Order: sequence, then structure tokens, then C-alpha cells
Amino acid sequence: MYGPIAETLRTQRLVLEPLAVHHADEMAPVLDDDRLHRYIGGEPLTPLELRERYERLVAGPAPFHQESWLNWIVRRTRDGQAVGYVQATVRPESAGPVASVAWVIAMPYQGFGFATEAARALVSWLTANGVAGVTASVHPANRASVAVARKLGLRPTAETSGDETVWRLPRAD
Ligand SMILES: CC(C)(COP(=O)(O)OP(=O)(O)OC[C@H]1O[C@@H](n2cnc3c(N)ncnc32)[C@H](O)[C@@H]1OP(=O)(O)O)[C@@H](O)C(=O)NCCC(=O)NCCS
Repeated sequence: MYGPIAETLRTQRLVLEPLAVHHADEMAPVLDDDRLHRYIGGEPLTPLELRERYERLVAGPAPFHQESWLNWIVRRTRDGQAVGYVQATVRPESAGPVASVAWVIAMPYQGFGFATEAARALVSWLTANGVAGVTASVHPANRASVAVARKLGLRPTAETSGDETVWRLPRAD
């Protein structure tokens, strides 16, 4: 097993729960909206498709890949409502492990700072757990996601991944 293992993370208004297969039935209706896919591709999945996806995510990559897939459901603490998810893929690089992170908040819960709050907790947990670098690939027209990346302290680089810009947390040193 490469990299850190996901733990429950708490913020002021949210709890980030390590993904489990049973989350699929709860998440499928929450994520059932084409608008969520405008910049990230794909399409909403049925509960069965989402369950199959979560099974693959929870099983993780084959050990020889030397990477880890960390996934959390983001839940509002006050009423337990699932509002989205965050994820990190951790891979070795010469200067230490680097995490590529992503965030999704369902339509009714957008605009309340949840993505920023959840992603901030994710990035501090990653850094506290030995991750030396953090990147995010963001479509340049995805203004909400650009705003989140910027608020996390990430900076756009000249690197691209498909039609997305790679953002990177400047190293402390
Ligand atoms: C990107 C996403 C996660 C943001 O979620 P959110 O919880 O609404 O984000 P936050 O409330 O934490 O912050 C959003 C910021 O973007 C800004 N914003 C939101 N919509 C915007 C828009 N259409 N244009 C410009 N800025 C926008 C907000 O004002 C806020 O910035 P501020 O706090 O400085 O005002 C959400 O829109 C989403 O899930 N989109 C679909 C999936 C996706 O594209 N994920 C990103 C993959 S890189």
C-alpha cells in the first residue's frame, strides 16, 4: 500500500468520510445532475453504476502502480446531508509524494464555501501526512473551481492535462 490511508476529517461545518461502497445509493441522487459534468466530462451514474465505481475506487489501484486513491464523501454536519466529494491520487515523484486533488459539490449546495472548506481540510491533511506537493487540473472556464484552487493557495502553471490547466501548491522551501 503506497501513501497515507484516508481518515475521517472534520471542519467547522463538514465531515469528510472515507468513501465506502454503501455510499453509492445515497450519492447517486445527490450527484444526478448533468451540470456537474460540464467541465469534468462524464455523466451522472445510476446507483448500480456508482456502486461499481465505488467498488473499484475502494479496492484501489494494483499495488505495482505505486499510487493511492483517496476518496471522501463530504457531509454537512448539522443535518448529515451528503453534499459532494473530494479525492486525491497520490503518486511518487523525485521530491516526494505528490497528490492530485479534485472537488465536486452538488448543485443545491454550491456557493456556500463548502468546496473551499473541504478542499482546505484535504490539503492540510495531505501535507500533514507526508505529501510533498499538491496539484489540481482545472478547466480554465470553470470559474468556481479556479476560485477554489486560488483560495487554497494553488497557482496556475504552464502545464496542461488535456484541456485543463495544472495548478500547483508552491513548495514552502
Ligand atoms: C467547483 C465546485 C466544486 C465549487 O463548489 P462550491 O462549494 O460552490 O465552491 P465554494 O463555495 O467553496 O467557492 C466557490 C467560489 O467560486 C466562486 N464562483 C462560484 N460560481 C462562480 C461563477 N460562475 N463564476 C465565477 N466565480 C464563481 C464563488 O464566488 C466562490 O468564490 P468566493 O468565495 O471568492 O466568492 C462546484 O461548482 C462543482 O462541483 N462543480 C462541478 C464539478 C467540478 O467542476 N469540479 C471541479 C473539478 S476541477
